Amino acid sequence: MIRALLAAPQRYWPEWSPHLASAFEAAGLEVELAPEADGGAYDYVIYAPGGALSDFSTVPGVKAVFSLWAGVEKIVGNPTLTMPLTRMVDPGLVEGMVEFVTGHVLRHHLGMDAHIHGQDGTWRNAVVPPLARHRKVSVLGLGQLGGACARALAALNFDVVGWSRRPKTLDGVTCLSGDDGLEEALARAEILVLLLPLTPSTENLLDAKRLATLPKGACIVNPGRGPLIDDDALLAALASGALGHATLDVFRQEPLPPEHPFWAAKGVTVTPHIASATRPETAAHVVAENMRRAEAGEPLLHLVDRSAGY
Ligand SMILES: NC(=O)c1ccc[n+]([C@@H]2O[C@H](COP(=O)([O-])OP(=O)(O)OC[C@H]3O[C@@H](n4cnc5c(N)ncnc54)[C@H](OP(=O)(O)O)[C@@H]3O)[C@@H](O)[C@H]2O)c1
Repeated sequence: MIRALLAAPQRYWPEWSPHLASAFEAAGLEVELAPEADGGAYDYVIYAPGGALSDFSTVPGVKAVFSLWAGVEKIVGNPTLTMPLTRMVDPGLVEGMVEFVTGHVLRHHLGMDAHIHGQDGTWRNAVVPPLARHRKVSVLGLGQLGGACARALAALNFDVVGWSRRPKTLDGVTCLSGDDGLEEALARAEILVLLLPLTPSTENLLDAKRLATLPKGACIVNPGRGPLIDDDALLAALASGALGHATLDVFRQEPLPPEHPFWAAKGVTVTPHIASATRPETAAHVVAENMRRAEAGEPLLHLVDRSAGY
């Protein structure tokens, strides 16, 4: 019998344990799943931030840690985590992110706010938005999520450029990398989508200097991570009119405190880290498949590169 610990906030137990149980059964695994460490030995840890476990040396003998989150910045630098770490790549998570990003890009592209908030009996001679083929969108991060979003936006005819650490090829998307690539991606981005992981190389990537290189009135959609952008520089760029709008789903501190200036700032939409959730019904099978692989001595899927930090 395999023993696994679900090291996650308590609310995960009712949501995840039935899906994990059926996924283990479907994978032909006999697994005893525990909701909290009881001092016994475990073969695997299934992890989400916010649970009681932070010192992995208290669970010796664990063969691998499977993160239920795609972003692993809260755990990747943990010095007690010496075992292999995988992150979540889940079809439901990808679909959800494509829907969030295309929805918010279309909102800014079509200028929907002017009409949603302008129902006052005035027939305005509004500017007709250009076709998507004439709208330049840049997507920073072309991984599982950014790549799928860039492809979906290109399929809607947007003029899409993407940027990643290593050179890439994606149908319908001009792919860039390196410092020059970033400069080019920013300079043309009427709408900028951030789907980078948070690492030492990406923290504050969008500082005041880089924000100033975006076209006037550009909109930002950030479902990546809050610290990718310098908050104060973003607020200043919005206040001066250099930027048009920022849709922010992720923050340095979550929940975003009620007194944070983002709540009241003109041109900011705050969404409460809901761009895309890991869906237990699909993601449980990803965990089970990785556990099956580990038991069979096969390579794990979605291993985190500890030196790159994602
Ligand atoms: N808001 C939400 O609800 C939500 C939900 C899930 C995930 N997320 C966030 O989305 C992020 C992306 O997830 P994912 O599954 O798409 O990750 P991923 O598959 O690891 O992709 C990350 C992408 O970022 C690129 N990248 C990393 N460091 C870079 C750097 N220094 N310079 C340029 N490009 C860099 C990678 O380049 P390479 O292709 O060269 O490796 C890759 O294209 C997660 O880390 C998490 O923060 C948010």
